Amino acid sequence: MFNEERKLEKAIRWGMVGGGRGSEIGHAHRAGAARDGLFQLQAGAFDLNEERGREFGTNLGVDASRCYKDYQSMFAAEAAREDGIQAVSIATPNSTHHAISKAALEAGLHVVCEKPLAFTVEQSKELKVLAEKNNRIFAVMYGYSGYPMLHQAREMVKRGDLGDVRIINMQFAHGFHNTAVEEHSPGAKWRMNPEISGPTYVLGDLGTHVFHMAEMITDLEVDELCCVRQSFVKSRAPLEDNANVIIKFKGGAIGNLWASSVNAGSMHQQQIRVIGEKASFEWWDEHPNQLRYEVQGKPAQLMDRGMDYLYGDDPGVCSRIGGGHAEGFFESWANLYHRYALAMQAADANDQATLGSLWYPNVDAGINGVRLLECCVESADNNSKWVKF
Ligand SMILES: NC(=O)c1ccc[n+]([C@@H]2O[C@H](COP(=O)([O-])OP(=O)(O)OC[C@H]3O[C@@H](n4cnc5c(N)ncnc54)[C@H](O)[C@@H]3O)[C@@H](O)[C@H]2O)c1
Repeated sequence: MFNEERKLEKAIRWGMVGGGRGSEIGHAHRAGAARDGLFQLQAGAFDLNEERGREFGTNLGVDASRCYKDYQSMFAAEAAREDGIQAVSIATPNSTHHAISKAALEAGLHVVCEKPLAFTVEQSKELKVLAEKNNRIFAVMYGYSGYPMLHQAREMVKRGDLGDVRIINMQFAHGFHNTAVEEHSPGAKWRMNPEISGPTYVLGDLGTHVFHMAEMITDLEVDELCCVRQSFVKSRAPLEDNANVIIKFKGGAIGNLWASSVNAGSMHQQQIRVIGEKASFEWWDEHPNQLRYEVQGKPAQLMDRGMDYLYGDDPGVCSRIGGGHAEGFFESWANLYHRYALAMQAADANDQATLGSLWYPNVDAGINGVRLLECCVESADNNSKWVKF
């Protein structure tokens, strides 16, 4: 079980780009990063609007002189300070991720960037090269992958509890955008605009999460895929509000992924089911403390977080309270930020052993998410042809 004994000599001096007042995901970053005291928010370019960003930042306790008008001035001014930030999280709309990440890496910062990482695989690979050259950690915020029961799932596949994996069923299909809500919601509006959202909507916004989950749990690599996508709300074209992808994995497993924002009546419906030769499991993000495990010929079992029959927490992603209590989204994010902090410390100390053993959603996971989108668009726009991954 987790406790908050100190893991770093000093908290990492941390800044944010985006995540300003009213943003959807800014608070999740701050809550996740602050949870274990491993990051301290000291600077920010929180908002496109300078005044609003400064007012917001000072209300968070950041000194007004370190609430900047944009990321360029923040990186330059912070680099000139002895006590300047060491890491930055980027929680801005998709079109900005590549440029801000690149500038952050060039300024010598560790980076936590939102997904989808960039518009193209080429841009994403450029970030990987830069991060490696500068010995910086580059993490991608697949925020669900800190849930302990997904790590139990990963361990079960590793230990062969399912036998060889045959089928992976992935879906993230909410109903919040079943009508043109973008007409009055700024957060929805940019997601439907290809110049800001990129070449996809639901595939990037939702599909990348559950795709990453499949990769993380099974370690399987994609061979090829085909995709069909629709814009049920016509004004969203060319971006899709519904998509289905069939994925062939190397070694013979098959996957199907459904991403949708027009699943009317649904809250989230983010689910992954992994089916092996002898057993299957299923996880729902609306019930993240449980994993349903089904062995052919036996009664189904509902496994619960925090119980002794699990394979055990690892030091980075773990239960924070005993079984039976509810843990949720912010604990998942805290688990990830915890790992990012350990990775950043290890990178600074050139501690290759720790870096080699520590799992977290890294730049490769980000690149694969973008590759998924590129391949899906190529397939869907060419009569759903099969595309090599
Ligand atoms: N990991 C997750 O679970 C998750 C959930 C929601 C959103 N996201 C991702 O997070 C990102 C942000 O999404 P959101 O829904 O919070 O968006 P949002 O529109 O609600 O908020 C964006 C914030 O960024 C600020 N901003 C925009 N451009 C900026 C710039 N150049 N410099 C500084 N600030 C800037 C805006 O003023 C606003 O405060 C997107 O890439 C999205 O895909 C991830």
